[in-house]
Parts: sequence; structure tokens; C-alpha cells
Amino acid sequence: MNKVPVEIFESPEDAVAKLAAETAELIRENDAAERPTVLGLATGGTPIRYYQELIRLHNELDLSFANVITFNLDEYAGLPREHKESYWQFMHDNLFDHIDIKEENIHIPSGTVAEEDIPAHCEEYEQAIIDAGGIDQQILGIGRTGHIGFNEPGSPQDSLTRAIHLDSITREDAAPAFGGIENVPTSAITMGCGTILSARRLVLLAWGEAKASIVKEAVQGPISDQVSASFLQNHPNAVFYLDEAAASAL
Ligand code: F6R
Repeated sequence: MNKVPVEIFESPEDAVAKLAAETAELIRENDAAERPTVLGLATGGTPIRYYQELIRLHNELDLSFANVITFNLDEYAGLPREHKESYWQFMHDNLFDHIDIKEENIHIPSGTVAEEDIPAHCEEYEQAIIDAGGIDQQILGIGRTGHIGFNEPGSPQDSLTRAIHLDSITREDAAPAFGGIENVPTSAITMGCGTILSARRLVLLAWGEAKASIVKEAVQGPISDQVSASFLQNHPNAVFYLDEAAASAL
């Protein structure tokens, strides 16, 4: 019944241990071949344990990020980097400040580009991914709307990096962090579904009961722009890493 590979783990810790070991192996192989490693990264609650495990591998096993280039999926429109809820801040707090990545190798869409400059900014983002050689491994979470990145229902499979209006469910989910829905930005800049699908490997992570029904739709439902995570069914190297609760509806 599953239309995309799924691995179920006893706990999120077990899942991120496997994923971080895969990332470390990729980095070490590329380092040995003198190639950079290009990682696509996500924010939100889901990947925090993965970042903690990468930091541990850096500290305890000398895993170096000196030749790693990163591209984040998205950023809220209107938030400056120093805003406590900006994804720039999140990534620095949860990962970048604790590893040896070079600041110039970090790419996150800007939340403060003037509206008329957003299309050019998005094109530059796409070009930067191409110039880096494409994304080796893209990490994804899934929103209750089925979004990957901020590709809300209606996002075409071939969409590229662009500004998008956030769904009210997505804004509701972000409301506690912002101290009320009225403070949550109404739009964001996100990699498109097409941008995401062009990564060579996709790993979607989901934990907890609250994700079970949307995970089922993405894994077993029809491929549809109403659930952008269902597009992973079309990717030759995509996998869902789930804990038992997130897999409970499968
Ligand atoms: C984050 C992102 C989103 C989140 C999703 C799940 O960069 O693009 O798609 O992955 O909203 O968020 P959490 O992990 O907070 O449940």
C-alpha cells in the first residue's frame, strides 16, 4: 500500500542516528574525492534532534563541515535575520554556530528582500543550487497541510523558489512561537516542489501522532498538488523516516 519507501523506527532518536550516519558517510566520501557536499536543510521542531546528532558527530568524531554547502528550504517574508523566529536565527542557534561550516557556504532565502526584487532573489537562489552542483541530500519535514518547504496545497510539482501565501493551518501551528497568530507572517519564500524534487536524495522525517494522518495521505494517497509531500512518490530516491506514532495510520 505504501507508494514510497518508509522506514519505521522505535524513536526519533533512532531515526536521526541513522540519518546523521548517512550524512556523515556522504560528507566523508565527498571529502575523500575532494568534492563539496551539498545539503538541503529544514527548520521546525522535527529536524532539531538530527542537528544535535550532527553536532555530536562533529564534536566527538571530528566530522568536519568545512566542505559542506547548505541550502535551506524557506524563510518567513518580512522577518529580519535577527528576529528570534527567523529561520536564519533558527539554523544558527540549532546547527551552524556549533560546527565548522563557512558562513559563505550557508544559503537561506532572505526574508527582507523588497517585494519587487523577490523574483530576482528566487532566481538567484535556484542558480546558486545549480552552481553548487545540485543538492545531494535534502531533509524535509511535513506540515499538517501536507506541505514540504512551504509548498501549500495547490503548489505545482514543477514549481521553483518563489513567494507563497501561508495556509491558515500553517500559521495556526506557528502561532504559539510568535505569541499569537496575528504576529505570524502571512507569506514566505520557499524552494518549490520542483526545486526539492531535483535533489538526488530526499529524506522526509515525521514524529508523533499529530502527523499520522497527513503521512498516510502522502505515502498511500494519490499524487496530488493538494498534498505536496505526495510528490515524493515520483522521486527515484525518496524515503520517509517515521517514528511509530507518525506511522500509526499506515
Ligand atoms: C521548515 C519547513 C516545513 C516544516 C513543516 C513541519 O523549513 O519547510 O515544511 O518542515 O512545517 O514543521 P515541524 O517540524 O515544526 O512540525
